[in-house]
Amino acid sequence: MTSDQSITAPAPGPLVISPIVGPRLYLRPLTEDDVGPEYLAWLQDEEVVSHLEVRFQHQTIEKLHQFVVDTKADRNRLLLGIFLNNRDKFVGTLFFSFDWPHLLGFVGLMIGDRSEWGRGLATEALRLARELGFKHLHLHRLEAGIYANNVGSIKAFSKAGFRVQCRVAQRRLHQGVFVDEVLMGCLSSDLK
Ligand SMILES: CC(C)(COP(=O)(O)OP(=O)(O)OC[C@H]1O[C@@H](n2cnc3c(N)ncnc32)[C@H](O)[C@@H]1OP(=O)(O)O)[C@@H](O)C(=O)NCCC(=O)NCCS
Repeated sequence: MTSDQSITAPAPGPLVISPIVGPRLYLRPLTEDDVGPEYLAWLQDEEVVSHLEVRFQHQTIEKLHQFVVDTKADRNRLLLGIFLNNRDKFVGTLFFSFDWPHLLGFVGLMIGDRSEWGRGLATEALRLARELGFKHLHLHRLEAGIYANNVGSIKAFSKAGFRVQCRVAQRRLHQGVFVDEVLMGCLSSDLK
């Protein structure tokens, strides 16, 4: 084993994640029971998926169900639900993919319930994602790729402590126009 390998976590096997609780919401791994018409409707809402790659796939309950099952069994991915503390209301999802040899996590999020937009939930969910990524999973770096015209997302990531790393010209085709992609990231040392 090289010295690099000795600092790569976690141990083999499925990831075991306990709920991460913030002031207004909590994150927990999604289960098959969370898959229903509400979750499907978010993914079929053109405004919600406008900046998400998932818009290129036709979604069904069966496919979503399979996605949750596959993700649970894959230690390189983690799918969390975003729930309001007071009513246990399911409002969105947070998705991680991991590059364990580099202790790197890639994050994507969706507040699927549009009635909850603009209330600071994405910002809080991303702060909790940092806590999970750095304190619990011992990652070194988290990052996200965001369409440059997704102003709300860039603001939420910024407010949660992510910084712009670089901007890649015309990397995404959005509604017939090529737009830049902004790579945002933060390091575990930024949490201190
Ligand atoms: C983008 C998204 C995550 C923002 O979620 P949110 O819970 O509304 O975000 P927050 O309330 O934490 O907002 C953070 C800041 O962005 C602002 N904001 C949110 N949406 C905005 C928008 N569409 N345009 C401009 N500003 C916006 C908020 O007002 C807030 O700024 P403020 O603190 O100065 O008032 C949410 O709209 C969403 O899930 N969209 C669909 C999926 C998506 O695009 N995900 C991101 C992929 S990287």
